[in-house]
Amino acid sequence: MKTDKHSNDGPLEARSVIGFYHVDLQYKDQKALSNVHFSVDNGEFLCLTGPSGAGKSSILRLIAMDAFPTKGEVMVRGMLASKMNRRRIPQLRREIGFVFQDFRLLADRSVEDNIAFAQLVVGVPRAAIMKNVMRVLTQVGLYGKRQRKPHELSGGEQQRIAIARAMVNSPKILLADEPTGNLDPVTAQEIIDLLFRINDGGTCVVFSTHDHQIVKTFGQRVIVIQDGRIASDVKRRVPVDRTASLADQMYRGTDAATAVDNIPATARQETVHA
Ligand SMILES: Nc1ncnc2c1ncn2[C@@H]1O[C@H](COP(=O)(O)OP(=O)(O)OP(=O)(O)O)[C@@H](O)[C@H]1O
Ligand SMILES: [Mg+2]
Repeated sequence: MKTDKHSNDGPLEARSVIGFYHVDLQYKDQKALSNVHFSVDNGEFLCLTGPSGAGKSSILRLIAMDAFPTKGEVMVRGMLASKMNRRRIPQLRREIGFVFQDFRLLADRSVEDNIAFAQLVVGVPRAAIMKNVMRVLTQVGLYGKRQRKPHELSGGEQQRIAIARAMVNSPKILLADEPTGNLDPVTAQEIIDLLFRINDGGTCVVFSTHDHQIVKTFGQRVIVIQDGRIASDVKRRVPVDRTASLADQMYRGTDAATAVDNIPATARQETVHA
């Protein structure tokens, strides 16, 4: 069933916070994306999935304007990639938080300094910094560990700190590239639950994952990327039963492209492009 919201053909909608308009991305000798066309509404929570090399990170890099389309257009919060002046990129980055698979915390600094640093570089007044540190550390449940160094934390805790750091400047969009890639399934689910809470606060969240279990249980929009193209774009209308045990929810499929197959047809809007 085609829908206006996720149509592959229509113009980008004004309410979109992110818009890809028939985007190609060519690295030097490698075509990474072909005719990628989708938009993301303010406050939406989107999962990008697909096999290794499919183009998930490339899409996130285009949103952060860390890469630019070789064809088509990318719009982020009203700013167009084709018209992006390099001097305006810091302004855009302030509206985007980024979280990586390998956390990327500063090893020689405490948790609170890691988060304070993210504010110093964008010129937050010192008086506001510690207040903000306290706010985000409380949000991720780690205020008590604020004086530890990253190596004194578990992987899941380090990722929660990385998320706190990404959120400290109150971005409108949170991008997370394989945020659960280094974590066990239970800790991974805790990170996804944290992303849900952040999304509940109104932040648009886009994350990528290979993890079939996460895709299977994710009750929001899932875009499957294959060979640089959108293979499917599925919007789930019903929340997944988040009280079910992990074993109950375990996804037993083997192919990322089939990861959304078990959702009842009545509970989804779908645009299949493959
Ligand atoms: N800087 C680069 N230069 C050249 N080719 C690149 C570069 N970055 C990525 N690619 C290629 O672009 C394609 C898409 O890569 P991308 O990193 O977006 O995939 P991915 O879906 O994130 O994969 P993974 O799940 O392994 O992280 C791949 O074929 C990759 O080899
Ligand atoms: Mg990647």
